[in-house]
Amino acid sequence: MDSEGLAALLSAQGQGLLATVASAGHSPAAELGLNNRLRQRYPASMVAAALELTELRTRARTKFDRADHLYLTREGLEQASAQIISAHRARRYTPYRYVADLCCGIGGDLIALAPGRDALAVDRDPLHLRMAGLNAAVYGASAVRTRCEDVRASDLTGVEAVFVDPARRHGGKRDLRESEPPLAWCLALAERIPAVGVKAAPGLPHESVPPDWELEFVSVGGDLKEAALWSPPLVTVERRATLLPDGHTLVSEPGPAVECLLPGAYLLDPDPAVTRAGLVEELARALGAWKLDPEIAFLSLDSPVTTPFARLLRIEESLPWNLKRLREVLRRFDVGAVDIRKRGSAVDVEDLRRRLKLTGNRRVTVALTRVSGQPWALVCSDP
Ligand SMILES: C[S@@+](CC[C@H](N)C(=O)[O-])C[C@H]1O[C@@H](n2cnc3c(N)ncnc32)[C@H](O)[C@@H]1O
Repeated sequence: MDSEGLAALLSAQGQGLLATVASAGHSPAAELGLNNRLRQRYPASMVAAALELTELRTRARTKFDRADHLYLTREGLEQASAQIISAHRARRYTPYRYVADLCCGIGGDLIALAPGRDALAVDRDPLHLRMAGLNAAVYGASAVRTRCEDVRASDLTGVEAVFVDPARRHGGKRDLRESEPPLAWCLALAERIPAVGVKAAPGLPHESVPPDWELEFVSVGGDLKEAALWSPPLVTVERRATLLPDGHTLVSEPGPAVECLLPGAYLLDPDPAVTRAGLVEELARALGAWKLDPEIAFLSLDSPVTTPFARLLRIEESLPWNLKRLREVLRRFDVGAVDIRKRGSAVDVEDLRRRLKLTGNRRVTVALTRVSGQPWALVCSDP
């Protein structure tokens, strides 16, 4: 969709067309007939824009609870923060009355930042900027100023806090090394406006974070989604892992080094936000668990625990890595299917699956890892 297409959809005729398309339901088979019928009443370009937007709104339901009212482009939706994450982040801005969302895209963050306060939204893409303003209004924002410009030229007079989500895609690929505008520029914003939050890719190296900033990793339903950097006025701890949707959060806390011992009765496989935030030792201390190897994120303990921060597995067999022995154990346990979890193992998973030639009835998890530097296998089941 281009700016003209959006303007057409915003007209009374366009709104009627969108309502007709939405009520017709959306299936590729039905689309052709619908397309032909609509083209008798509306311009072809408007019909194409309405069908595309309706498809994007359906897709956007996984990210936004008011998806059916939003204005989206394919790229804008793909880059947009999911509402569950933007709402979580927006809580840090509670004390501020005038907030800027720099690089606002279609407004995935703006919808959470703007309601209830003055907001400035900036993007150099005029179509996305227009959509961001409309989408923020869908979420009840009534005081959003939009500016189509390079954020580096933005006048931030009066702004009390900033959020910036720089572009990270180049040539269709995610580029972890550099963003636009670059991370260094985003961090330097804090010299002008002290309260700054920067969204970053989850692969962000810890060394790129200034010492007095907080680094937060967020996972949703066990999938690592993104990182955020927080400048000193927004800092709560040094590092944080946040697990959504429930909002469980684990923070960095200095403490004694965690011991490395042989596997006990249970294995803990930490959430990826915990491992990326470097909080495995904090988790071990909180649960009374130990490590299997200084470099590996698996933990072990002898009694079962309930924790949102790791998956708990019962260890049925623990053995130094040896294909023949592993095969014997799995046959003895009547195993026909394995989920393989690898941390610090060089074993080729697909090759292993072929070589195991399993024929039994049970399904187990095989953790391939290292125990004090030695390749190891743990045959595990859900407790
Ligand atoms: C990752 S997207 C932002 C997504 C947004 N936070 C959301 O949740 O919908 C990055 C945006 O940065 C904009 N952008 C990149 N460099 C820019 C610059 N120098 N000035 C203004 N906008 C820029 C792009 O146009 C793009 O819309």
